[in-house]
Amino acid sequence: MINLSNRNISNISMAVVRRLPKYHRYLQELLEKEIYRISSKELSKLIGFTASQIRQDLNCFGGFGQQGYGYNVEELYQEIEKILGLNRTYKMIIVGAGNLGQAVANYTNFEKSGYELLALFDINPRLIGMKIRDIPFRDVDELGEFTNENEIDIVVISTPREFAQGIVDKLNKDNVKGIWNFAPTDIKVPEHIIVENVHLSESLYTLSYLLNEKHLEVDK
Ligand code: NAI
Repeated sequence: MINLSNRNISNISMAVVRRLPKYHRYLQELLEKEIYRISSKELSKLIGFTASQIRQDLNCFGGFGQQGYGYNVEELYQEIEKILGLNRTYKMIIVGAGNLGQAVANYTNFEKSGYELLALFDINPRLIGMKIRDIPFRDVDELGEFTNENEIDIVVISTPREFAQGIVDKLNKDNVKGIWNFAPTDIKVPEHIIVENVHLSESLYTLSYLLNEKHLEVDK
């Protein structure tokens, strides 16, 4: 058995943490196919990380494979769920309910994974009072009061960038734990709030760099 108490989650490096969702996804697919045991070599072929990378990563949290047996898929999956905090629920609100905010709200898989959306906030009077899947659009002026009355795990910021800091300033920050920031700007928050930035354009520009690097090699 993997023993959670034998390791310290906070010691896991961010590089490993960033790879965990990929392990989680592949292990889930294996379980769906009723595959309960896998060697690090087979896992390597599947995921595309080297077998030694996989051994190193999984050793970080005590996920030791057994010689001649490999990994117990279910045990590993559950362990990664615990580390990623996917075995609990999160209360979430979205501020900026335009294209992106509504796309996040409409993605029902987040809800299935335990992310409970309480409300969307916007400044546009045409949106206020509407609903997505029974979840109300509220006036952004109510944001302070709402966060006074409700503890929120995750605030999604999907307003134009120039309003992002203003949104943070409106929150009752004592009642907010994390911000998922889609606005392409760095926001200032108190130390206890964790910010995860999702800058899609950075990922897109990385792709265009790699496409161009290939061209440059061909041109040589
Ligand atoms: P959008 O214009 O469709 O939506 C923005 C929403 O924010 C609107 O409904 C607007 O009424 C609302 N808003 C404006 N000021 C506000 C305020 N002070 N308080 C509350 N709500 C306010 O824009 P979109 O496309 O959804 O993008 C949102 C953010 O995400 C932008 O910062 C954008 O740069 C970023 N982003 C969007 C991507 C996309 O694919 N749509 C991709 C990457 C980043």
